[in-house]
Amino acid sequence: MEKLTFISRSPEETKEIASTVASRFREKKLFLLFGELGSGKTLFVKGVSKVFGVPEDEITSPTFSIIQEYYGEEKNIAHVDLYRIDREEDLGDILNYIYEKISHGDYVIFVEWAEKLDINHYKDESYIIIKIRVLERDNEREIEITVPNN
Ligand SMILES: Nc1ncnc2c1ncn2[C@@H]1O[C@H](COP(=O)(O)OP(=O)(O)OP(=O)(O)O)[C@@H](O)[C@H]1O
Ligand SMILES: [Mg+2]
Repeated sequence: MEKLTFISRSPEETKEIASTVASRFREKKLFLLFGELGSGKTLFVKGVSKVFGVPEDEITSPTFSIIQEYYGEEKNIAHVDLYRIDREEDLGDILNYIYEKISHGDYVIFVEWAEKLDINHYKDESYIIIKIRVLERDNEREIEITVPNN
């Protein structure tokens, strides 16, 4: 298990940290994002855009669409937001979608509100955990990366 902690002092810094993390762990398939409303999960995904060759502007919040896919020159991104998902049935459909994308070699998957998933489902997959905490000082975030299988 490997753990890394970053402090971000601005939205720009969060994007830079995201880009560093994604390049370092670019072979990982599943990026699980944890953190309260407005902590910076979507911003983090925006920050990984250049690593996978996706135009940053295309990355927007999937809170209402639930799933968005972006074509990238390096890898495509599947961007999932579970915030509005409550029914077991819907969660099951999304789990299947995630598995399908994992087995498809050309995708990297980012999941916001990963609290809603049972992490045991993924224990054999190559995933990383990103926890974003809002700190007391304005615009400060702690970003903790856990890589279970490293
Ligand atoms: N250091 C920082 N890192 C990230 N975001 C920051 C930071 N400082 C301030 N912010 C602000 O916090 C907000 C983060 O929004 P973002 O949509 O990325 O959050 P989110 O975690 O995806 O929220 P949601 O749970 O609603 O999906 C933005 O308005 C951003 O400008
Ligand atoms: Mg979001």
